[in-house]
Amino acid sequence: MRLDFVGFSMASIALRFCAAWLVVGSAVLAHANEPYKPKLGQPGKDVMWLPTQDALMQRMLEVARVGPQDLVFDLGAGDGKIAIAAAKQFGARAVGIEYNARLAELAQRQVTQAGVSHLVKIIQGDIFKEDFSSATVLTLYLLDELNQMLRPTVLSMKPGTRVVSTSFAMGDWEPDEVIQVSATEDRYRTPTGYYWLVPARIEGQWQLNGWPESNPNAPAILRITQRYQRVAGTFTFKGVTQPLLGAQLKGAELSFSCVDAQGALKWVRARVQQQDAQEMTGEILGAYGQPETPVGPWELKATRIKP
Ligand SMILES: C[S@@+](CC[C@H](N)C(=O)[O-])C[C@H]1O[C@@H](n2cnc3c(N)ncnc32)[C@H](O)[C@@H]1O
Repeated sequence: MRLDFVGFSMASIALRFCAAWLVVGSAVLAHANEPYKPKLGQPGKDVMWLPTQDALMQRMLEVARVGPQDLVFDLGAGDGKIAIAAAKQFGARAVGIEYNARLAELAQRQVTQAGVSHLVKIIQGDIFKEDFSSATVLTLYLLDELNQMLRPTVLSMKPGTRVVSTSFAMGDWEPDEVIQVSATEDRYRTPTGYYWLVPARIEGQWQLNGWPESNPNAPAILRITQRYQRVAGTFTFKGVTQPLLGAQLKGAELSFSCVDAQGALKWVRARVQQQDAQEMTGEILGAYGQPETPVGPWELKATRIKP
């Protein structure tokens, strides 16, 4: 009787134990089957996860003139929203680089759900190790100091590469445009973005072949000083040196005005094909870019003669 009682209670304990495990096990399984939900502000390798607000994302991609010809890289892609929007709304190809494996998986799932797998690739990797030099547009939502760490790499990219950053600037490399949107989803987060065009490195001395009346013995010489996209300089011809007027560098293209030997205003436009190019090609037009007939425009080929 006593033994039966003990036997009964042992069996009942074992049953209860199994039942408890079943409950815990099914709860664990149910949790494992739940889709991964990242938490706003959750830590990341070098920066936490927060998504760029929709209105700002839309405006930044518009300001960067993203289109079907582009390859957009989002550095620190989070849930993939920028890469997906670049493809779905602007027709671009896009690559998102995300360090957190679960976020990268989530981003990949969302790419599939959005029907843009043919345009978007998600890479689980480190933005400081992955190669993004093929980007025509770069999107960032990192931190001031991370932007500054990336800055030398960004400045070595093809001239004219477009860069947009949520919230954080690039130190003393001034943006070409500050992007602000009025609609804000979260009143504690400032919806500000920044836009840059990667400037060509053109500092130095150039000989302008094609300048009217110039020849190899009497060349026209251009001297350029540069700080990021800000350029200035002088133009020397027939022993007369003058400052460049309205010099502008927009990505790969330099333009400026100066006065020719007859005292007429000329407008010069020239472009480089890559960083640290030794040649610029372009044209010389009349004042303010007006074509001069019947003689102009003149074809220009500039050669860098000193760095
Ligand atoms: C502020 S969120 C931006 C997410 C997305 N780009 C956006 O604007 O919506 C930054 C993301 O970078 C990721 N991250 C942090 N350090 C990283 C690294 N070294 N390499 C790749 N991703 C990183 C974080 O996990 C996070 O998802």
